[in-house]
Amino acid sequence: MPLRETCCSVCDFILEYDTPRIVLIKNKKVGLINRLVQLVILSYIIGWVLIWRKGYQDFDSIVSSVIIKVKGVAFVNSSGFGERLWDSADYIIPPEQESSFFVMTNLIRTENQTQGHCPELPKNGFNCTSDSNCTAGLIDPHSSGVLTGKCVTFNEGVKTCEVLAWCPLESQTVFPNPALLGGAENFTVLIKNNIRFPQFNFSKRNILPNISASYLKTCVFNRTKEPYCPIFRLGDIVRETGDKFQELALQGGVIGILIKWNCNLDRSASECVPQYTFQRLDNRNVDETVSPGYNFRYAKYYENSAGKETRTLIKAYGIRFEVEVFGKVMCVLRCLRSQFRDSLAQGVEDCGFKLHIGTRELTVQADTLMQC
Ligand SMILES: *[C@@H]1O[C@H](CO)[C@@H](O)[C@H](O)[C@H]1NC(C)=O
Ligand SMILES: *[C@@H]1O[C@H](CO)[C@@H](O)[C@H](O)[C@H]1NC(C)=O
Ligand SMILES: *[C@@H]1O[C@H](CO)[C@@H](O)[C@H](O)[C@H]1NC(C)=O
Ligand SMILES: *[C@@H]1O[C@H](CO)[C@@H](O)[C@H](O)[C@H]1NC(C)=O
Ligand SMILES: *[C@@H]1O[C@H](CO)[C@@H](O)[C@H](O)[C@H]1NC(C)=O
Ligand SMILES: *[C@@H]1O[C@H](CO)[C@@H](O)[C@H](O)[C@H]1NC(C)=O
Ligand SMILES: *[C@@H]1O[C@H](CO)[C@@H](O)[C@H](O)[C@H]1NC(C)=O
Ligand SMILES: *[C@@H]1O[C@H](CO)[C@@H](O)[C@H](O)[C@H]1NC(C)=O
Repeated sequence: MPLRETCCSVCDFILEYDTPRIVLIKNKKVGLINRLVQLVILSYIIGWVLIWRKGYQDFDSIVSSVIIKVKGVAFVNSSGFGERLWDSADYIIPPEQESSFFVMTNLIRTENQTQGHCPELPKNGFNCTSDSNCTAGLIDPHSSGVLTGKCVTFNEGVKTCEVLAWCPLESQTVFPNPALLGGAENFTVLIKNNIRFPQFNFSKRNILPNISASYLKTCVFNRTKEPYCPIFRLGDIVRETGDKFQELALQGGVIGILIKWNCNLDRSASECVPQYTFQRLDNRNVDETVSPGYNFRYAKYYENSAGKETRTLIKAYGIRFEVEVFGKVMCVLRCLRSQFRDSLAQGVEDCGFKLHIGTRELTVQADTLMQC
């Protein structure tokens, strides 16, 4: 019996034809309700999805990489050094850094240091008249080594405590003036910067598509004449911050190279270009006489002919350049168009209603809408 019924309904189904019927209702009330429902949906999409939930976004964070190459040589002919040429392998310390580079502009060098005993420099707490003034084994943050407990002659008339340290000690306390590597003013730096706005799948680099290899070999950045050349003369960078290079070179400092990308994706991609600005980052105005500038020490180690470990200590003064990349992407028309499409899909997901988007018109099946 159930079998017969099932069979019948299958037959009915096979031998049936159905088609939706379109009813045109010429009724002001129904028409008004229909339009009202459409208005509600539109305001839902625009108000809730686009504006409130920021379904359309015009900003994106920037993803960026920076590659730096410094070129130039400096010639030094001074009493301490004799004739010496410095190239980028000598004055860039360390050779490779992320988004920043240090150019040595001045230095104090102490050669042939070995571990041994020598008199401490005459400074507070280390002058002595007898061994009793020197406590053996004392390590002081201001001393150059471990006190041995002896009082020895530093030079005529001055006696200081003996230390176990890298001897001879660095004795020069005043930096050379003028700066030994003042020639760094003429060095150039090539900055390669790739950026990407991941949300918009948009990428670009600061070597613009119209820059040829031959142009890149000769150009130097000039704000008025060559604003897109990615090669900068260090002297020009410092001058734009309002400083004098030769003065900054004496004790060093920190300078920021800011690259700003403001891109409007509604316009052509060739209008998305970098803007360069330079800024002094260390504060030189507070009190110039207290711990000014930027310096650090490093050493090069050897073995001398007697097989003893020897080092050359260098106190390096210089300028650290930090490259910082900022970016903002504007995308109104293009993004609205694509986001509008996504918002409709979102509406379907949120409310379970179905929207059929024709070529122009938005037709809504009113009955399914009531579930929303
Ligand atoms: C370096 O200086 C010395 C004397 O100070 C001079 O004789 C020599 O010619 C200089 N070298 C160069 C290349 O200028
Ligand atoms: C360092 O040692 C080398 C070889 O031992 C010597 O020729 C040179 O003059 C020394 N330099 C100093 C500054 O003492
Ligand atoms: C130590 O000796 C030096 C040189 O004579 C002198 O300038 C300094 O003031 C002395 N320091 C102390 C604490 O006596
Ligand atoms: C060294 O010690 C003696 C007494 O122990 C003291 O009179 C003298 O002032 C000390 N010298 C220094 C330079 O501290
Ligand atoms: C930089 O180069 C110019 C010419 O190319 C030269 O006149 C100037 O002396 C150089 N500056 C330094 C500090 O060497
Ligand atoms: C991003 O753009 C590149 C070309 O500009 C294209 O090959 C790639 O498929 C795009 N990726 C996505 C996820 O759209
Ligand atoms: C840029 O070029 C102009 C015109 O040639 C020149 O006057 C100016 O000094 C240059 N600026 C720099 C920083 O070289
Ligand atoms: C490269 O294109 C930019 C605009 O995108 C333009 O301002 C610049 O002058 C061009 N540079 C060269 C070398 O043609």
